[in-house]
Formats: sequence, C-alpha cells, structure tokens
Amino acid sequence: MSDSRSSNFGAGPSALPEPVLQEAVRGLLNFNGTGMGIAEISHRSKEFTAFLAEVERQIRTQLDVPPTHSILFTQGGGSAQFSAVVLNLLARHRLLHPDLTDDERAMDYVITGSWSKKAAEEARRLGGGKVNVAVDARPHSKDGRSFDNIPAHDAYTFSPDPALIYYCENETVDGVEFSNDEASPASFPFHLLPKDTLLPLVGDHSSSFMSRPIPHLADHAVIYAGAQKNIGPAGLTILIVRKDCIVDVDAATKLGAVPVPLTMAYKTLADSSSVYNTPPVLSIYISGLVLLRSQELGGVKYYEELNKRKADKLYSVIKAGEEKGLLRAKVKEGSRSLMNVVFDVLGEGAEARFLSGAEALGIKGIKGHRSVGGIRVSLYNAVTDEQTDGLVAYMNTFLAQ
Ligand SMILES: Cc1ncc(COP(=O)(O)O)c(C=O)c1O
Repeated sequence: MSDSRSSNFGAGPSALPEPVLQEAVRGLLNFNGTGMGIAEISHRSKEFTAFLAEVERQIRTQLDVPPTHSILFTQGGGSAQFSAVVLNLLARHRLLHPDLTDDERAMDYVITGSWSKKAAEEARRLGGGKVNVAVDARPHSKDGRSFDNIPAHDAYTFSPDPALIYYCENETVDGVEFSNDEASPASFPFHLLPKDTLLPLVGDHSSSFMSRPIPHLADHAVIYAGAQKNIGPAGLTILIVRKDCIVDVDAATKLGAVPVPLTMAYKTLADSSSVYNTPPVLSIYISGLVLLRSQELGGVKYYEELNKRKADKLYSVIKAGEEKGLLRAKVKEGSRSLMNVVFDVLGEGAEARFLSGAEALGIKGIKGHRSVGGIRVSLYNAVTDEQTDGLVAYMNTFLAQ
C-alpha cells in the first residue's frame, strides 16, 4: 500500500482496493483503448455497452443469480429504493388483486435498525397500502428501545398475502446483521413466510452485498444495494429483480395504483437494459473493476472467509476490553454484524482519546453514526487483514494504557 493512504474503516463511501484505483486512473485517461476516458465516453458506445454486460455477468455468476431474475442498474441510492420497491410492488399487487382497498393491501416490514425503520416510514408516507410491522427489534433489546438484536423467530407476524415483505440484511448504523446460518436464531425466518406463492420478498443488502452468498436468493422479489460499501463509488444502485415483479406500472395506475415515475419503474430499466437515461458511468466502471478483481480472488466465498476472520479479530479485542471494563459491545452476541462493528469506549473523555490516537496512526472513519454515537468500524471487502491487524494492535495498546 502506498505510504500516504490511511486505513479507511468508513461506513460509506468507503475503502476501495488500491489496485482497482490504480487501474481506474488509467481508465480515466483511456478507457479500453478508445483514446477517451471513461468519464468522457458515451454510455451508448459499444465499448461501454460491452463493459456493462460484463458487470452484469460478474454479479450473475458470483452470486449465482438464476435466469428468473434480471439484474438492473440505476441511480438514487438505497433511499430511492425505499420508494421504488413500494411503488413497483404495489403496482404488481394491484394487477394481481385489483379489488382490494388500500387497507387490505399489507406491506410487511421487518424493523431491525435505522435503515429498515426509515424504509417503513417511506412506505407509510407513500400510501397505497398499509404498513404492518412484522417485527420491531427494539422491544427485544436490552433497554427496550435500542436496535441491538435480531429478534427470535417466534416474534414475527407476517400477513397472508402482502404486497411486499421487507427486511434489511445488515443494519449499517446499528451493527446488526441477519446470520446466514439457518440454524441460528438470528437468521431470517424464511420458513415462516407465506407458502405456495411467488414471495414479494425485498432485501436491502446495501452494506453486505458481495460480502458473502445471499441465502434464498431465488426466493426474493427484489434485492438491492447501493454500490458505495463493498462495490464502488456512490451513484450506482444494483437491483436483482424477479421477472414477475417487472410489471406494467401504467396498467396498474389505471386500476387505481399510485403512479410510478418512469425512472423508478423496474420495467423502464429492464426494457432499456438499464440505459433509459445516462447511467453513472464512472461508478459502474469502478464497480466493474472491483467485481473482476473479486472474481480473480475467489468471489463471495473468498470474501466471506476474509470478512469473518477480520470481524473475529475485532470482536475478540472488544471482548478483552469488556473484561477490563473499558469497552462495551453494543449488539447482542449472535446478531453482530461482520461489516459494521459498533462499540462504546467507556470512561470520561475515553472515546475522544481513542479517536485521536487512531487518527494519529492513520486509522480513519471509525466515529459512530451521529444518531447513535460510539465507535463504528466498517470492515467492507476492501479492508485488508493487515489494516484490521493494525487497528487491533492499536486497540490492544489503548487497553494496556
Ligand atoms: C443498509 C442501508 N440502506 C440504505 C441506505 C441509504 O443509502 P443511500 O445513502 O445510497 O440512499 C444506506 C446508507 O448507508 C444503508 O447503509
């Protein structure tokens, strides 16, 4: 690593692999031998079209996405998807069940942290259906009001035929993540979902996408992720959409559904191979380079192992800090995120000392989200073992003092 670069543990935008950045610099000057930089070339050029198809192919093969699902690219980030999933899946539900009232059109939300809470608020704001909170993790927390756990399976109540069932796989702010081990009580309760139907299951995978395989991928209606955690720069949102959820939204509007802006309709994106309008070319390019590198390294299996190893090291030093009464993990064991590790540094002025000591060593981006405070270390794919070891060594020294 070049000497001037810090160890970036930021939550997003976040670290990217240095070899990719070096390659991107070359592409900024001359993309694939065209004599034009990637930020200067037409998104309809044959070179960019071929690159976009390769990005799609990489996601499809590395995540084993079946032919029942389309891979789409768009802008607007995770926040735009809070709205888009509601609008598209309400339109689908309207076409399937035109005679139901809005109150009879349930939208089930699994609320395990700040992002799923925000998504549910947007669904409520948009209307056209009724939000049913399938579970809220806060009453199951240590203090009755925090997002510090994935609730046990018997806490969930799903509607019989909802328009959508929404969850967030990894809560970036709160450091809570569903386990991908089905035997774990912190796994997503796939077995409790309505049977004998194409599930309208929506997963926000923004901060865990490509960090490990996705359980039950084929059962999802929509999986989406903003690129700016594990994949690339901000500006790109990746969608995996089951084809029956790519519906004629205007036909649904004629039956009374909320109208869907064209740029948010999955059909617009699918019909135009994700270039209805100018896509975030540079972000797609860097994301593509990251994915090609990921393939060379062994894909999501490689990252799953690496990420687990990094998280284990960090949680071990937090445990040692807890035994000394100097640190406190914020999330219950079993529900802890491999991507965003959150903890408190205890004692008067200790957090500020911890942060300034880290900063002096070039360890950056570890201040917790403004809404919850504390420390948050993000261990996305591009964070290396060595950088994690550097942080752990610093924490050990801090604890020893
Ligand atoms: C899990 C999750 N969902 C959604 C969002 C919102 O994404 P954006 O800022 O791209 O709108 C974020 C942002 O950090 C996130 O971490």
